[in-house]
Amino acid sequence: MYKIDELHKIYGPIVRISPIEIHIKDPDFYDILFSNGKRDKPPTWSAAFGNPGSIFSTTPHNLHRLRRGTLSHYFSPASIRNMEPLIQEDINRLVAILRQYQRSGEPINLKAAFAALTSDIISESCFGTSQGYIEASGFNSHVIEATEGATDSLPFTLQFPWIVPLMESLPNKVTVMLFGSGMNLMHEFQRECEDKIRQIIRTRDDYSPSLKQKTIFHEVLDSNLPPSEKTVRRLSDEARTIVGAGTVTTAVTLASMLVYLLLDPARMHTLLEELKEAIPDISRPASHKDLHKLPYLTAVIQESLRLSSTISFRLARSAPDETLQCGNVAIPPNINMCMHAPLIHLSPDLFPEPMLFNPERWLPGGSANPKYLVPFSKGTRNCIGMELANAELYMTSATVLRTFARSELEEDGRAVIYGMRLLDTDRRDVDVARDYGISRCEEGRGMMRIVLE
Ligand code: HEM
Repeated sequence: MYKIDELHKIYGPIVRISPIEIHIKDPDFYDILFSNGKRDKPPTWSAAFGNPGSIFSTTPHNLHRLRRGTLSHYFSPASIRNMEPLIQEDINRLVAILRQYQRSGEPINLKAAFAALTSDIISESCFGTSQGYIEASGFNSHVIEATEGATDSLPFTLQFPWIVPLMESLPNKVTVMLFGSGMNLMHEFQRECEDKIRQIIRTRDDYSPSLKQKTIFHEVLDSNLPPSEKTVRRLSDEARTIVGAGTVTTAVTLASMLVYLLLDPARMHTLLEELKEAIPDISRPASHKDLHKLPYLTAVIQESLRLSSTISFRLARSAPDETLQCGNVAIPPNINMCMHAPLIHLSPDLFPEPMLFNPERWLPGGSANPKYLVPFSKGTRNCIGMELANAELYMTSATVLRTFARSELEEDGRAVIYGMRLLDTDRRDVDVARDYGISRCEEGRGMMRIVLE
């Protein structure tokens, strides 16, 4: 990402970064490339994860549309509204465990805690059973480690994607020796997903009372997709992507949001005042719909999504039968084009003082234009879990902050936060400094820890 940005400074908004791919740095082209038109997805980073059966890794538009069509209903705003009791129940489970940490004074690893929550929520939706990570020792950081481990190898697997299926046939020990334990955890996770899909297929006929609701994969199996689309491998590729994509992204955004706020007591105070009024009694949490109406919470979430830019990789599309206009350049059909969200989110031209955590820029009259906030991408192949992610971001931040944090203004007008403090954590642990597909902070940092008092 950083090298490509340097090349743009020399060569302008369109740079050919490889024999088969052009990179574009023109924020106004984003809506044109990531549109609702027909778009193929060139197998750039998607090929590096070894899950060819998932929607994420499907290249042709028509096949993607067919596959996504059976899933999109499950992630629609109406379905996510129905899921809210399950989401709140899991948040309450997390709050109960956080209370234990509060009593013992033991530090909390925020990324692991929130990844346990998001992983339990999405696993329940996929498989009908919770992973129980919230209650596991240290929040069982398995999924976050597997995702970070797999992305550690990304610079290598991107260049040699054929090595990923080959790795699956290697003994665990050899994979660990060559590619580290993260890649091995990824393969274990693949096998786990395959087992769970097999179990859903086996028990499909007696489905119901034991499950809180029909899972995503019951829906896919009941759909009119052809049998070739319902194989264990295809569905477990899909499951692994959904669980992986639905865990780390939201967890890191939530963790980063708490860090930005705890480093900025005045803004934390403004948010806590808004939450106090909106949720006078924390035993009666507010719905996602009501929380969405809160201007300051919304601005904090937008600013956290912008700054943390958790998907840092350049996203690629090609238009099979359309010529796209970028400024005065006409780009013919079937050219692989890509763009980087962080180069938009952190552009000083679009967001003055881009590294400043400044939710006010999103308030009415503020300088930020929502058109340039693209953390979930846009168009036909945008994030399918966007509605779920938003529900998790709003409901979790509101419940956790309203339960554990309190603020007071000193005589000199300074805000002081009680109940929650950072431990050895600062902006070096959150700021995007490296592009490993998912954004990473500088090497050797990244532990976001708090203590509850
Ligand atoms: C803050 C949280 C999240 C962010 C920032 C995020 C971001 C993104 C982005 C940028 C893409 C497009 C990737 C590409 O074009 O290669 C994507 C795709 C995807 N996301 Fe998310 N995501 C988040 C949460 C979730 C959640 C909760 C789920 C759970 C269902 C999820 C599941 C997926 C899937 C399955 C895709 C592939 C969609 C397709 O190719 O049609 N994501 N996400």
